[in-house]
Amino acid sequence: VHTQRFSVQVEYPVVFTEEVLEVTNADLLWALTHREPGRRHRAFVVLDAGLVAAWPSLVGQVDAYFQAHSTSLELAAKPQILPGGEACKNDPGLIQQLHQQFQAAHIDRHSFVLCFGGGALQDAVGYAAATAHRGLRMVRLPTTVLGQNDSGVGVKNGINAFDTKNFLGTFAPPWAVVNDLSFLTTLERRDRVAGMAEAVKVALIRDGEFFEWLDQNSSQLRAFEPAAVAHLVRRTAELHLAHIATSGDPFETGSARPLDYGHWAAHKLESMTNYELRHGEAVAIGLALDSLYSAGMGLLPCSDARRICDLLRQLGFTLEHPALERWVDGRPQVLDGLAEFREHLGGELTLTLLRGIGSALEVHDVNDEVMLKSLAQLNSALGA
Ligand SMILES: NC(=O)c1ccc[n+]([C@@H]2O[C@H](COP(=O)([O-])OP(=O)(O)OC[C@H]3O[C@@H](n4cnc5c(N)ncnc54)[C@H](O)[C@@H]3O)[C@@H](O)[C@H]2O)c1
Ligand SMILES: [Zn+2]
Repeated sequence: VHTQRFSVQVEYPVVFTEEVLEVTNADLLWALTHREPGRRHRAFVVLDAGLVAAWPSLVGQVDAYFQAHSTSLELAAKPQILPGGEACKNDPGLIQQLHQQFQAAHIDRHSFVLCFGGGALQDAVGYAAATAHRGLRMVRLPTTVLGQNDSGVGVKNGINAFDTKNFLGTFAPPWAVVNDLSFLTTLERRDRVAGMAEAVKVALIRDGEFFEWLDQNSSQLRAFEPAAVAHLVRRTAELHLAHIATSGDPFETGSARPLDYGHWAAHKLESMTNYELRHGEAVAIGLALDSLYSAGMGLLPCSDARRICDLLRQLGFTLEHPALERWVDGRPQVLDGLAEFREHLGGELTLTLLRGIGSALEVHDVNDEVMLKSLAQLNSALGA
């Protein structure tokens, strides 16, 4: 038996900037060229239609940026404007369209795909890029709170299929990530709030001090005060990046997925509501549920569970939802999310719970009675 063994060093810059397409801002140029400064680089640009609606001059700015840096950069095709939001992850035709366009533009493995948009479009374009020529150089410019603090800085992409969230997808580290905070100013209130769920999540499992900061700054965050939002995005991104770099399992080969605290219920609620609930809105409900459950199991002080629910509400989340009351075959349908969560990962069911704010632990089974009680608590007007 020969044991084949090698390891691959992964490295990509995550740049925080503002006004990324100002011709005088060299951050994007650097992100694209610093590894091979002598070359002229081809890029295929995709823009989220929701973003373009809020920034009508964006296509012109992309053209101007590439013109201004034409010794180093070249557009491989006209920038493509594609619909963003969860709908793009439910449309397999979009992936085929992108593959065809990459092929028509003669995109090769040294070309870049630049995606400006929300987490959903990043996931879909990232999947198309990872599967064309077995992997193009993906440069993400996430334009939502969630995109900049979580999905955009990580190593995953994916689309939904067969009624299952993220059924198709790959692990594919990006070439670079450029977070332009100025894009966040045009987000709808709903998306501003939704993106903060992942901040609360990562604070709960990793960083009690950050939770305290979120709690103390909840009014500024609710008002989307720029300095507070900038800190939330940066700290959340740092915590996600640190986990990926140091957990020893960046490509999630084990059964545990600690960053998915609250996500078993969230993913189920997203599909049960036909994705009418935003990912972050569903995550907030999932966080509240698993916090109440952690308290119900005697792991977390009840006062902490109450604080968590209060903070989520204070940030603007609604923790009650009619889908939580839907029963199928004698039990709440959302509980099917447990089996689906296990299936997505393989191996043994592994749930992350809390034993304190900032301190997580893993369990492998669920007490139905306590879970039902936690669900009832969550959906009652009394909340926690
Ligand atoms: N790959 C991962 O590791 C990972 C992690 C977490 C979440 N996700 C995925 O991310 C997706 C959610 O992403 P999201 O929260 O960014 O929402 P989203 O991508 O659905 O975007 C929400 C809306 O905002 C619009 N938009 C984007 N940028 C805008 C801007 N600057 N101004 C105005 N409108 C703008 C979009 O067109 C869309 O209509 C989910 O599919 C979720 O599963 C992926
Ligand atoms: Zn998430």
